[in-house]
Amino acid sequence: MADSRAVTKAVVPVAGLGTRFLPITKAVPKEMLPVIDTPTIQLVVEEAAMAGLRDVLMVTTRRKNAIEEYFDRNEELEDALAAKGDEAGLDEVRAPAGLAQIHYVRQGSPLGLGHAVLCAAAHVGNEPFAVLLGDDFIDKRDPLLDRMLQVRQQRGGSVVALMEVEPDQVSAYGCVAIKPTDEDDVVTVTDLVEKPEPGQAPSNWIIIGRYICDPSIFSVLAHTPPGRGGEIQLTDALRTLAISDRADASGDGVVGPDGGGVHGVLFRGRRYDTGNKIDYLRTLIQFACDRPDIAPEFVPWLREYLDSMLPASSAS
Ligand code: UTP
Repeated sequence: MADSRAVTKAVVPVAGLGTRFLPITKAVPKEMLPVIDTPTIQLVVEEAAMAGLRDVLMVTTRRKNAIEEYFDRNEELEDALAAKGDEAGLDEVRAPAGLAQIHYVRQGSPLGLGHAVLCAAAHVGNEPFAVLLGDDFIDKRDPLLDRMLQVRQQRGGSVVALMEVEPDQVSAYGCVAIKPTDEDDVVTVTDLVEKPEPGQAPSNWIIIGRYICDPSIFSVLAHTPPGRGGEIQLTDALRTLAISDRADASGDGVVGPDGGGVHGVLFRGRRYDTGNKIDYLRTLIQFACDRPDIAPEFVPWLREYLDSMLPASSAS
């Protein structure tokens, strides 16, 4: 069912512990880890802004003040750059604060992604909203959020972004059961499961860190008990919305929250994960090989380095 309420707000949860990236995350938020010279969180906020979402609420925590400082003005640094006439440096330093109106709310304890999203309820109100995880981002050349917003507008409900992975990787992610629709890249999500046991996954399509949520998610989250890992899972709340929609459609008398169901956008573009060490390194290398100011020097070095690592027999 089409829904005319526009999505204007993005919620970016950044309050997690970042245990996969210890020891650095003891003192540095993983969302501040640099993709060469730009923290991941800036790339995430740029993605929201590019999709027209200029009201950004970060769900943060006391250990992550560096994020708030990064998106604030730094007059001392600006004055020093201005005195040197470094216009390019000034633009770079000012850019983060100009991307969006950034608000903050605190999640007292890291009780899970679902709980982090629930912390946004008062700011968001009764409007659909986007959720962008703070430790992964989508390539600017493959605008996923635009497509998700379109699907929300045409079909209502909530929208998740899905990527296909090898079967042996599914159990590391939230995963979905899906039904096709009349559009190639859009599916109906009939079930969701967070980190399924190996062999129990309903498909190879995993949920990646972009969501458009119907505001009915808040009342569901408020009643969602801790799930996988003892955390309140967003996946479990979306499951309630998907299943209640299915139950209503089947006319079996099971009445759930009227959330308009859950749709999936099948994403085949470029996504970068910076929440774990291997994917973070992949991201760095891809960006370095792609950047005109770095690639000409870096790529030949990388080639040479990799060649030097090959055993003598395969190098000949
Ligand atoms: P992750 O599970 O990837 O982040 O949550 P984490 O818990 O920080 O990392 P690990 O698993 O210990 O290494 C995805 C996103 O949700 C946020 C995280 O900050 C991350 O951006 N999150 C997670 C919260 O804001 N609150 C939570 O309670 C949990």
